[in-house]
Amino acid sequence: MDPARFDRDAFLRDHWQQQPQLIRNPWVGWTNPLEPDELAGLACESEVESRLVTGSAGSWQMEQGPLQESRFAGLDAAPWTLLVQAVDQHVPEVTALLDAFRFIPNWRVDDVMVSYATKGGGVGPHFDQYDVFLIQGAGRRRWQLGKRCDDSSPLLPHGDLRLLAEFDVQQEWVLEPGDILYIPPGIAHDGVALDNDCMTYSIGFRAPSRAELVEGWTEHLLDALTEDDRYADPALPQQDNPGEITPAALARLHAMATEGLLDMDGFARWFGQHSTRPKYPEIDWRPDQPIGQDDLAEMLASGDLVRNPAARFSFVRQGNAALLLFVNGRSIPCDGPAAALAERICARDRLEVEPASIADPPSAELLLSLINEGAIAFDG
Ligand code: SIN
Ligand code: CO
Repeated sequence: MDPARFDRDAFLRDHWQQQPQLIRNPWVGWTNPLEPDELAGLACESEVESRLVTGSAGSWQMEQGPLQESRFAGLDAAPWTLLVQAVDQHVPEVTALLDAFRFIPNWRVDDVMVSYATKGGGVGPHFDQYDVFLIQGAGRRRWQLGKRCDDSSPLLPHGDLRLLAEFDVQQEWVLEPGDILYIPPGIAHDGVALDNDCMTYSIGFRAPSRAELVEGWTEHLLDALTEDDRYADPALPQQDNPGEITPAALARLHAMATEGLLDMDGFARWFGQHSTRPKYPEIDWRPDQPIGQDDLAEMLASGDLVRNPAARFSFVRQGNAALLLFVNGRSIPCDGPAAALAERICARDRLEVEPASIADPPSAELLLSLINEGAIAFDG
């Protein structure tokens, strides 16, 4: 994106997680990365998550994919919208859209949903739990924004679409191809296609709920606890009333229940693994035959390293030259040149790796293990 038309610092300071922002075409030569036919094709595949919404205000109907090809021919003149989840994991040109949003950490990125609508199509007024950049790909769409909502906001009885019972329009814009609308979590919104062939790319982010964190972290801690790790009270002092749970006993019990929860290093390792578990593990890039040390130099010379778009990459630093790399729910300790290589892989989804870099055995080992688990590949 052209920094003169989109100021990241100002966006992060004044808009991210706070208020909507309309960004008029900040791209240098916007082209719509996906044709409607290709999107319809994806919606027919069993491993792709999709929905078809037909009708308009007051009479929406939703069908879950995969759809039969013949379903599209059977659609009548009423407006309809096709929504396909995680298209970035299937179409490299859509994956490339994420490059412009890499100023937000990898672990916050969810996926790119793509919608296609005919004139008048939309999914109705609703709110999402997540931040989203809505990029207008083709055609025009009128977006209306309402007030901030939460779990207590009344919804219409027809449950699947989670439509708002009240929608109080506060702002309205017509988006043209290349325009972007950022909407923070909880803001009511409604987009209606003004033309046929209206395509919208939703760059969606995720944020764990407190409940998800507490559940996952405590379950992880529970896995390591044994039945013989138990309360003990040697040198038990006599107490006046046997009915009292004394402050000393409570302090010990409380320490037993909470000590593990506060382990920051353990939490970092767990969270890195938890947040890099792939949502769509079926996008399998594992080579037919495991790659060995001998093949590696040739692969490096053949082209760039590319990350599997379904694999999530993050790391935490451990001192100056070491880090813990997280990929596909696994943690890999890296040190020295291998740590520098891991950082480069986390920073970009495509990069050139110098053939000389595999002279360092831990770096070569890291590349081999990532190739053999299907997290990266070399194109060519
Ligand atoms: C759409 O692309 O039609 C809907 C996106 C959204 O409202 O989140
Ligand atoms: Co939405």
